[in-house]
Amino acid sequence: MSILEILHYPDPRLRKSAKPVEKFDAQLREFADNMLETMYHSSGIGLAATQVGVAKRVVVIDVSEERDQPQFLINPEILAREGEEISEEGCLSVPAIYEKVSRAERIRFKAQDKNGDMVEMDAEGLLAVCIQHEIDHLDGKLFIDYLSGLKRQRIRKKLEKEARLAQA
Ligand code: NI
Repeated sequence: MSILEILHYPDPRLRKSAKPVEKFDAQLREFADNMLETMYHSSGIGLAATQVGVAKRVVVIDVSEERDQPQFLINPEILAREGEEISEEGCLSVPAIYEKVSRAERIRFKAQDKNGDMVEMDAEGLLAVCIQHEIDHLDGKLFIDYLSGLKRQRIRKKLEKEARLAQA
């Protein structure tokens, strides 16, 4: 397994819309495992393929305390949303920024696993927020898009400055 490079906002590749996975082969499984390792390595609770520059609808999630309940969501889709919940979100592609975002409190979703088998499930709380956040990534959307333009501009300037300093 290997650690993949995570793109940071405002990298334009984060704005790409990801294509459905059609082939459930060894290559896909290896990629999904690498994504999981990358997510654990960065102490994240979710990672979308878009964030490592691959425009495919692959998401890995683990919201457990023990970091031992990985979930692979391939071609995930939200079927129903209910309620509203405002919680503080962060993102591995927008490092060190945490802002309040409003999401559905409960969702019903379907997704395929690494073998292509379809599962349909309900989620609430942190898992529901995480799934909504990661599916947004697959559609080229970031959690900071829910903030005001002014706030987003400030975040962009801060991250661009940090990227310049890192290169210097
Ligand atoms: Ni994210």
